Amino acid sequence: MVIQVKGTKPNRRNFLKAAAAAPLAAAAGSRAFAQDADPAIVNKQPWNQYLGDGVDARPYGMPSKFEADVVRRDVPWLTADPVSSVNFTPLHELDGIITPNGLCFERHHAGIAEVDPAEHRLMINGLVDNPIVFTMEDLMRFPRENHVYFLECAANSGMEWAGAQLNGCQYTHGMIHNVMYTGVPLRLILEEAGVKTAGTWILPEGADASGMTRSIPMEKAMDDCLVAFKMNGEALRPEQGYPVRLVVPGWEGNMWVKWLRRIEVGDQPWHHREETSKYTDLLENGQARRFTWEMDAKSVITNPSPQAPITHGPGPTVLTGVAWSGRGTIPRVDVTIDGGMTWHQARMSGPSMDKSMHRFYYEFDWDGSPLLLQSRAHDSTGYVQPTKDMLREVRGENSIYHNNGIQTWYVAEDGSAENVEVS
Ligand code: MTE
Ligand code: CO
Repeated sequence: MVIQVKGTKPNRRNFLKAAAAAPLAAAAGSRAFAQDADPAIVNKQPWNQYLGDGVDARPYGMPSKFEADVVRRDVPWLTADPVSSVNFTPLHELDGIITPNGLCFERHHAGIAEVDPAEHRLMINGLVDNPIVFTMEDLMRFPRENHVYFLECAANSGMEWAGAQLNGCQYTHGMIHNVMYTGVPLRLILEEAGVKTAGTWILPEGADASGMTRSIPMEKAMDDCLVAFKMNGEALRPEQGYPVRLVVPGWEGNMWVKWLRRIEVGDQPWHHREETSKYTDLLENGQARRFTWEMDAKSVITNPSPQAPITHGPGPTVLTGVAWSGRGTIPRVDVTIDGGMTWHQARMSGPSMDKSMHRFYYEFDWDGSPLLLQSRAHDSTGYVQPTKDMLREVRGENSIYHNNGIQTWYVAEDGSAENVEVS
């Protein structure tokens, strides 16, 4: 077992010995309540004395100005240009399971396409009896469904493959969002076009300047894919593919083609860029693992974490995080606060839905000594989230994509937290 703090590789046993020798901070206390003459109670505030904005002053509501820090963020040195780049969902600022539309991470290969829905078309061609071109209005006349699904980019946590790198769950795990989609089952649209018996694959294509394409097997297309036009009740945001995107539940984000304009039906995969040079895993023997579509079960503690340190001192402490699996639900998450020496079953709270994010909590009395926090997801197939070392044993050191290894946060006596690895 090795603990690694950003580049250095101290021995775990020494590290734990050092941690144990450190003087304990104040013993576990209770939650503090307001003291006498608290100015926040005694003083008048502007909002007590003056009338506020009337209705309609804010026709589209925005968060409080005191929440101005709750934003998507990028890592500028990660990519050469913001039009082919990524930013990250601020997971440490969120609770529950739904990602608000304005905070869903963005991944574009050619910037945000500003598509006029009146000028947008969806074409179905290839191995079909009736090639069709749909307007947005045509799509609205099919029966719709609502489903909550997570979208995780296969590159999420990619920087962490070789060791602890980025300081914050926003950066290590924020290439994910969890949204309720309204859309038409892709099956209904393909049936309208009449797939020929030889049609075993589809190739969705985006209307942005990158013309993104991915090969998807027909079984998945006919199973649970959606042609979605609403997210969390309102129109898709331009960043998420307005006016229409493909939803491919549980499968890697790259396949969820945004600004969807065409679906070709074929009899074999197309082997395009995104499924050969990208989104494949180079193994130790020089061969690349391909077509790894399903996202394996994964979890992360969002609080405490490097961007969300413990600021209240010892005593009752709420640990929380999220877990998900591309293969089903998450019936159980284990957490440890001592680097894996003892595990506790976390408390799940909120709806448990297939291929959706799940929320977990673990409340504990912090004694003020250093912590090593980890979470480990179990999915409904019985699969258990592995350590990063277990992944490296199978896939070697070359990988970037599909890192679902267990994440560790080190919490110091002052409550500050840091990305480390204990595998
Ligand atoms: N679709 C198009 N047309 N263009 C793109 O650049 N990026 C893909 C996918 N669909 C992309 C696309 C990738 S790699 C991911 S991870 C998801 O969209 C990101 O979706 P989001 O921007 O809604 O988070
Ligand atoms: Co992606």
